[in-house]
Amino acid sequence: MAPTAGGNPLRDPRDRRLPRLPDASALVVFGVTGDLSRKKLIPAVYDLANRGLLPPGFVLLGFARRDWEGHEPFIEFARECAEKGARTPFREETWDRLASSIRFVRGSFDDDAGFDGLADELKSLETSHGIQGNAAFYLSIPPSAFPVVLKQMERTGLADEARAGGWRRVVVEKPFGHDLQSARELNSLVDDVFGPQDVFRIDHYLGKETVQNLFALRFANTLFEPIWNSQFVDSVQITMAEDVGIGTRAGFYDETGAARDVLQNHLLQLLALTAMEEPVSFGAQTIRTEKIKILRAVSLPDDLARYAIRGQYEQGWLAGERVGGYLDEENIPASSTTETYAAVRLGIETRRWAGVPFYLRTGKRLPRRVTEIAISFKKAPHLPFDATDTTELGHNQLVIRVQPDEGVTLKYGSKVPGTAMEVRDVAMEFLFGEAFTEALPEAYERLILDVLLGDAMLFPDNAEVEESWRIIDPLEEYWSGTKPFPYRSGSWGPAASDEMLAHDNRRWRRP
Ligand code: BG6
Repeated sequence: MAPTAGGNPLRDPRDRRLPRLPDASALVVFGVTGDLSRKKLIPAVYDLANRGLLPPGFVLLGFARRDWEGHEPFIEFARECAEKGARTPFREETWDRLASSIRFVRGSFDDDAGFDGLADELKSLETSHGIQGNAAFYLSIPPSAFPVVLKQMERTGLADEARAGGWRRVVVEKPFGHDLQSARELNSLVDDVFGPQDVFRIDHYLGKETVQNLFALRFANTLFEPIWNSQFVDSVQITMAEDVGIGTRAGFYDETGAARDVLQNHLLQLLALTAMEEPVSFGAQTIRTEKIKILRAVSLPDDLARYAIRGQYEQGWLAGERVGGYLDEENIPASSTTETYAAVRLGIETRRWAGVPFYLRTGKRLPRRVTEIAISFKKAPHLPFDATDTTELGHNQLVIRVQPDEGVTLKYGSKVPGTAMEVRDVAMEFLFGEAFTEALPEAYERLILDVLLGDAMLFPDNAEVEESWRIIDPLEEYWSGTKPFPYRSGSWGPAASDEMLAHDNRRWRRP
């Protein structure tokens, strides 16, 4: 980039190192007293304010049924959420500034008066905060409530940009639908009310720095791309493990299960980013184009009994504590066959990836919380050493640690010091925490900011969501006639999952 006249390249508007501030606008949250809002959304808004990334005319507007008079009780509620959940230190100064821009509107979804009140409040914010009709509506509500809320927005003209005189956007959480059919219905419902460029579908994994680092790792370096293909890669393992159970989300989880909750979205997005071709430029459309090509090329194994395994946790021990099984959780029916673990072997039918298995797994009540992408390379075609010199040499591996210990590990063989030519695996580590002074922002900070900026790069589009259901639907159909394998809480999942890899002469990594 050519330097500007003043000599300071940061003053050049084309230079993206300067943070961009969104327009003055309102973030309207439906379901603002719910779990996601308390734990993630409100703290993220506070963190953005603390980092100076919100415009002076920013307003947080909560909409809920709570019997709260005026704005004060919600401001108190939001303060508690920020104090408890924010990543950055709590500062009174930041809080006071934010608090003066927090509003509450009381109403239920089928209540016309509530939505009329919301429309009036937004109107009045034009004068008080200069939001100029700009508003993003965050649907932090169960998908079953989407139709009624969207209808209300249509009725009151809340989604009408021309009428508002500014931009209007909607944010929807995953899982988007329950299967391909319902996702299509939901998509058409949303599309009736909002334009396609105004719909932001959240998959919070894309907001994680370590996931975005995949772009840098692959496309900013020369080192990895030449070997990123079936000629050199033996297999890929993508793991998203959690030690927690289902907590207080029984209602949601028992209807959803691990495959719909995580595999359909987070894991398939990680697969798409790992496998996609280089985009022609770095923008929403170009990246989506490449991801969708991969999702379309994903194939399921013929033998689902062997390569699609699901499980349900039983009681066991975790971190020295006895924990109950899934069927012991509150509000879970004793006959539930919902899976809390899912593992599958997928293929990608492209020249780059033909024949390379992608093993995906996710589960609750596993030994630890860890998400990683492990690329395992083929063994060297020839070793000029005595066989006994390399008994402790495994596959070269590149492991992208999404969380925790965010970073990258490269595993390769090295000579053990001594008189013999003994070769053993060693690891070269990169840790975000050591290489950079800036702490990693929460995914929701980035994603909320991008919604307000209108930048859709990190949001999957309609086609991706539908393509992901195309992959998941046959699995669900197959599983619907089976019972999940039981696994002990604190173990790495059902034995059948280990057998799936053993059958291919491989093993799951122990992250
Ligand atoms: C959510 C799932 O999308 O991701 C939860 O619904 C899961 O079941 C959560 O616990 C995990 O997110 P993270 O960022 O903690 O890995």
